Amino acid sequence: MAKILIIDHTPQSRESLAYYLSHNGNIVTNASNIDDGLRQIGRQCYDIIVLDFRDPREDLTLLKQIQKNQPDAVVIIVSGFPSFSHVQLAIKEGAFDYLTKPVNADEVRFVVQRAVSYKKLRDMNLKLNIELSERNKVPEVTSIERAEELALVYQIGQEISSHLDLGAVLRTLVNKVTELLDAEICSVLLADRKSGILTIKAACGLDKDQVLKTRIESGHEISGWVMERREAILVEDIERDQRFGKRNNEKYYTHSFISVPLIVDDEAIGVVNINNRSSRELLTEDNLRLVKALAAQAAIAIENARLFTTLEGTYIHTFMALTSAIDMKDHYTRDHTEHVTEFGVAIAKEIGLSKKETNAIRQACLFHDLGKIGVHDSVLTNPGDLSADEWLEIRQHPTRGAMILRPLRFLGDIVKLVEQHHERFDGTGYPFGLKGEDIMLGARIMAVADSYDAMITDRPYRDALPRKKAVEELLGNRGVQFDPGVVDAFIRVLGQKQACEADVVIDQ
Ligand SMILES: [Fe+2]
Ligand SMILES: [Fe+2]
Repeated sequence: MAKILIIDHTPQSRESLAYYLSHNGNIVTNASNIDDGLRQIGRQCYDIIVLDFRDPREDLTLLKQIQKNQPDAVVIIVSGFPSFSHVQLAIKEGAFDYLTKPVNADEVRFVVQRAVSYKKLRDMNLKLNIELSERNKVPEVTSIERAEELALVYQIGQEISSHLDLGAVLRTLVNKVTELLDAEICSVLLADRKSGILTIKAACGLDKDQVLKTRIESGHEISGWVMERREAILVEDIERDQRFGKRNNEKYYTHSFISVPLIVDDEAIGVVNINNRSSRELLTEDNLRLVKALAAQAAIAIENARLFTTLEGTYIHTFMALTSAIDMKDHYTRDHTEHVTEFGVAIAKEIGLSKKETNAIRQACLFHDLGKIGVHDSVLTNPGDLSADEWLEIRQHPTRGAMILRPLRFLGDIVKLVEQHHERFDGTGYPFGLKGEDIMLGARIMAVADSYDAMITDRPYRDALPRKKAVEELLGNRGVQFDPGVVDAFIRVLGQKQACEADVVIDQ
């Protein structure tokens, strides 16, 4: 639940924003101009202020006014493309993020959700700061140490929160905690939302087997105990502790142990465990306090990453449905997207690309012909020669696809891959006429996968080529239309595929 003020001159955009944000108990107030906005700001406090940015001078003055009057509020800029440079200026001046008009429901909600999480994190740091200042009845040196410690916690918290990928959040958490505490063993366990069972999602210093096999029910073992009670613990001697004496692990040679729950909105979502300092010293109350501060920030970052993944998944499924609708629309290319994806991923693996690069190619292949949604059916299914205008229309599909996908910033370079999938190695492709390695490797891979599937499928204007002939075409265009290395890799993939198919025949 958040108190949100929308200051927007345009009634339609203001109403859309208010409609999209009026859920989850949010209280939304509207202001139609700067004076009205300033009046509202003078009257009450807001968590989030969404500010329409169109006149750089007036709006920057208002932004500064907001920051002065409501320093706790998080400001999100909403703007049309013409004032993009002004938006950048606003971000420099402390605005949290920006939205482009026309606003989109999912994006608005996602950015505001991030702003709410960011505010929680910032408020928590402030609280921690105050708490530490109040405790500063200790000598001066300790006070400086505490301030340094707080700065460090804040800095690490920012680093953890900067990731939107869950794996990266967890990896950063484990790395930073072990580094900070000079610990040899650290693990992060997250609970399954339905069963509540804890499994290890990131760890260091543990056997891979143990990581994969560990399954802990709430209330069981140390992690389950901490999870159930939502209570952080420091155990000085695990063998003597009555609660956990029988639960110790032989690897706990320093005997001391820290376990801290990861809590979001009063709900425990997992546990962070630390033990074994390289120095063999015992873990201390100070260490516990540090891990608690980091765990609180990490929990929010984990929730953000999960939210992001869900949103990302929703988008991907929507676009997959769209691309399969395009495949269905043109019955000659039914399953085309699926085949191109299969070939593209196989080539990427054969070349030895990383998992991340291969995944980007997979997604780009899934979306590669999305722009055909704007091409008339009559053009897509034209059995004869295409007119110059019809060619022009077809040739726009990579750009159109990229335009549809570009607002989804999480897709990153995937959008460029879609845009470049009809570029040719010799520079005669479209839309840019890029040449050789100026074309992204992923797009060079997609070009081979796409063309091969097009060749072996019946098209409106010609019958399918036999596979052997299609391979000859690829080889004939090696270094002309296609990257030679990619063609070679694909030929190897096809060779392996044929070997597999032959095996199946023998088995029968
Ligand atoms: Fe295409
Ligand atoms: Fe295609």
